[in-house]
Amino acid sequence: MRFLLINGPNLNTLGKRQPHIYGTLTLKEIEARVAERAAERRVEVRSFQSNHEGALIDFIQAEAEEAQGIIINPGALTHYSLALRDALEDCGLPFIEVHLSDIHAREPFRRHSVMADIAAGQISGQGWEGYLRALDALAALVKEEGRE
Ligand code: DQA
Repeated sequence: MRFLLINGPNLNTLGKRQPHIYGTLTLKEIEARVAERAAERRVEVRSFQSNHEGALIDFIQAEAEEAQGIIINPGALTHYSLALRDALEDCGLPFIEVHLSDIHAREPFRRHSVMADIAAGQISGQGWEGYLRALDALAALVKEEGRE
C-alpha cells in the first residue's frame, strides 16, 4: 500500500513557524515519524511539500495512479483552493485532511475548508500526531474497502 503525504505552503518552516500554534517539530521530523508508523503498517509513504499550488497539483497527478490514499495538510490553500480540491477529487483517491492547529477555534477565515466535504476525514488540532492518526485511519479505510 502506498500513501502520498502532502504538505502545502509554509509548512516547510515548521519548527520555527509560530511554535505555540504549530509545535516545535520540523517537517522532516514529522515526515520521519509518519514513515516509521507507516513501516509498521507496511505502508510506503511518498512525502512532498511545496509552497506552490500548481506543484502540489502536478504531484497529485503524477503520483495518484500508483497510490492508494492521500494525507494532506494544504496549509492556507485549505480555505480557498478550488484547483487543489478539483485535483483531489479528480484523482479518485480517499484523502484525509490534517491540520496541526484547531482551525475551528481560530480566525473565522480558517474555519471553512473548501475540500472537507469530499475528504474521507478531517483531523484538526492534534498537532503532529494528527498525521499518525490520519495514517491509521486511512490504512484501515483502504483495507476495509479492499483497495490495497
Ligand atoms: C494549517 C492551518 C491553516 O489555516 C494555515 O494556513 C496553515 C496550517 C494547520 O496545519 O493548522 O498553514 O493547515
